[in-house]
Amino acid sequence: MTTDAEPTAPAGVPADLYAAALDAFRNAYAPYSGFHVGVALRAEDGRIVPGANVENASYGLSRCAEQSAVQALATAGLRRFDEAVVVTDASTPASPCGACRQILMEFAPAARLFLVNLEGAVRETTVESLLPMAFRLRSDTAD
Ligand code: THU
Repeated sequence: MTTDAEPTAPAGVPADLYAAALDAFRNAYAPYSGFHVGVALRAEDGRIVPGANVENASYGLSRCAEQSAVQALATAGLRRFDEAVVVTDASTPASPCGACRQILMEFAPAARLFLVNLEGAVRETTVESLLPMAFRLRSDTAD
């Protein structure tokens, strides 16, 4: 039986990653935009790292969910993730903003991304396909 505590992942989306992204979505702090975003990254060692958007009364200080997740990943000493789920309640699953694409690229150009909404619609892509010719300072960074 399906309950709120056991969310059903859309077909093809890793269930554990989806559950973590949905939790983060529910924890998003977005009183100004009303647009909640939850993300979960699967790190190189299998750990799941969540992130949510956290807004601020000084709007420009708000943080996107992808940035929160990548900050947490690196803070935990991790330097790579293989896949990520992004949950929003947009009518078409929302795609990471331009800044977040560059942030995701730092640690995972080849990562698979599952963009999903609450109705179970899914768009699957990769970080590198969302950001062709990404900026790189040197060739010896994490990617
Ligand atoms: N937002 C994200 O969390 N990720 C994105 O890639 C785009 C936008 C957040 C920022 C803000 O809190 C809200 O969504 C509306 O822009």
